[in-house]
Amino acid sequence: MTSNENVLEIKNISVCFDGFYALTDIRTNVKRNTIHFYIGPNGAGKTTLLDIICAKTKPTSGNIMYYPKDKEAKRLTGMKEYKIVREGIGRKFQVPSVFVNLTVLDNMILSIKGHKGIIDSIFKKPSKKDLEDIDKVLKKVGLIDKKDECAGSLAHGQKQWLEIGMQLVQKPEIIMLDEPAAGMGKPETFRTGEISKEIKKECTVIVIEHDMDFVKQAADIVTVLHEGKILMEGDINDVLADKTVQAVYLGRGGEG
Ligand SMILES: Nc1ncnc2c1ncn2[C@@H]1O[C@H](COP(=O)(O)OP(=O)(O)O)[C@@H](O)[C@H]1O
Ligand SMILES: [Mg+2]
Repeated sequence: MTSNENVLEIKNISVCFDGFYALTDIRTNVKRNTIHFYIGPNGAGKTTLLDIICAKTKPTSGNIMYYPKDKEAKRLTGMKEYKIVREGIGRKFQVPSVFVNLTVLDNMILSIKGHKGIIDSIFKKPSKKDLEDIDKVLKKVGLIDKKDECAGSLAHGQKQWLEIGMQLVQKPEIIMLDEPAAGMGKPETFRTGEISKEIKKECTVIVIEHDMDFVKQAADIVTVLHEGKILMEGDINDVLADKTVQAVYLGRGGEG
């Protein structure tokens, strides 16, 4: 049990690739049940930061502490990638990876079973509770009417929402979304913002995004990265008003 409201503490993280520092001394905390955006120009180090959190990349120095709800604090640095997923940190990658030949429901079933291993997912039927959980999540991401449709027939935005749903059904503590609105039109992006706000009631959402309307709509806190360093961190209004942020990022209209 912890009274700490931070779910992640990223402490002095640096990442060096062959002499090039993709991240330098990053210090940032993520609070539980918030939507925390990491924004910044291309090459700023945003994706590298997510890679560090999920242990796809090892930091050169620094460490990350994780405070799961009602559980003991854990050091993520040094933990294996699959273990971090099991500890409740999920990630949706930029490219959708749903099974296009399966229905929306079957994709969700595979995901809920994913934890328990492939053999289990093939031979054991989902429980009544699993199916109820799946319905609840499909309602949240707006796909309950598409349950029996083939995932391949979904629109681009709907595939993204299905993937968010597939993460959510595993009941993570943290969901990381790398540019979830990429390739989406305005209405779909807005919808993604509303979905994010809905799911933060149950977990913490970390988002990398370029669409500033989306950031304005959903952000509780925004960290601006630039050339591997934190330029500033604060609420959206402070970030928008900051002269340096305007110069290096917003002045160029984000990257969108
Ligand atoms: N595996 C890697 N090896 C070498 N350089 C990398 C690697 N991954 C990322 N980089 C470099 O680190 C910098 C930050 O990249 P990235 O985190 O993808 O930025 P962003 O997501 O903000 O656009 C870029 O200059 C990129 O070329
Ligand atoms: Mg990136």
